[in-house]
Amino acid sequence: MRQAGRSLPEYRAIRGVGTILDAIAQPELAAEITLQPVRRYGVDAAILYSDIVVPVAAIGFGVDVKPGVGPVISEPFRSRADLARLRPLEPELDTPYVLETVRILTGELAIPLIGFAGAPFTVASYLVEGSPSRTYQHTKALMHEDPALWFELLDRLADLAVASLRSQVAAGAQAVQLFDSWAGALDPHDYEHFVMPASRKVFEGIADLGVPRIHFGVNTGELLGLMADAGADVVGVDWRVPLDAGRERVGPSIAVQGNLDPAICLASWDVVEQAALRVLDRNGGRPGHIFNLGHGVLPETDPTILERLVELVHGYQGPARS
Ligand code: CP3
Repeated sequence: MRQAGRSLPEYRAIRGVGTILDAIAQPELAAEITLQPVRRYGVDAAILYSDIVVPVAAIGFGVDVKPGVGPVISEPFRSRADLARLRPLEPELDTPYVLETVRILTGELAIPLIGFAGAPFTVASYLVEGSPSRTYQHTKALMHEDPALWFELLDRLADLAVASLRSQVAAGAQAVQLFDSWAGALDPHDYEHFVMPASRKVFEGIADLGVPRIHFGVNTGELLGLMADAGADVVGVDWRVPLDAGRERVGPSIAVQGNLDPAICLASWDVVEQAALRVLDRNGGRPGHIFNLGHGVLPETDPTILERLVELVHGYQGPARS
């Protein structure tokens, strides 16, 4: 459950006043924040406390993460000259704190640690727009008006993701997730033509590591088949697509992850329980289902609801018979 920590008082108590990038740069703190939701909820895997913009920030692109807003960039990527601001990532030199956090965690955790990176499209959307966007108009304009530059940008971002993911796995991460959170802004044609080749490059670039590769997006109902074809072992399905329909779209050899609506978790337990059981029943007991929320935990979520949710999923015995 991504960003599960944000709803916890113990997170707010130790997070400090700086930006999240400052917190991520402190391995002991980042490891402790990663462990908090694991201890509280008893989930089956941990996700590293970091952010998708860490590699681009580390090579000096000029990125900050504004609380309540997300990544902001003072000088967005708009022309060929900006390519010079995207040099290759040297993880041991540029993000040693991330690797130290992974090492601390691998020593302490009894469950797998999921490392992650931002997918080329989603990171590009922040670099090009300069801040979170609803329309992705600058990103789409670049893609369609200067495809050669677009492909070079995505290629560099794919290389950054590969370097970052490989370093996290070398440090001990046992699974990886590629976050293409905003790919759902595209139609299947544009996704396949302008985005999928770069995401495929990321999956191919880590295939030899032998760790499960999860491909995540939101609003991606029409893209699920393509996201599976990009090279994932697991595809995230958000709550708009019933899990069994999502499974049909990704095909029989791919596992699914999802897909309770995080906003449901703000409701009373009875409502959450019924909605969670609907998700589990839709899976129908088939192997290859990672139960989680379709997107991150909302900060207002009551932690006791999430405690009960984990208990419910762990105790699930299959559809009730009538
Ligand atoms: O779940 C976790 O806590 C693990 C670490 C994690 C964070 N960001 C920490 C974070 C992960 C896996 C991410 C990925 C991430 N970052 C994505 C992809 C996943 C998704 O949710 O779609 C995206 C799009 C980002 C960019 C980003 N960073 C956004 C949109 C925000 C939210 C801004 C806000 O405050 O609502 C951030 C900040 C951020 N990253 C927070 C956390 C815990 C919250 C702010 C903070 O504590 O400072």
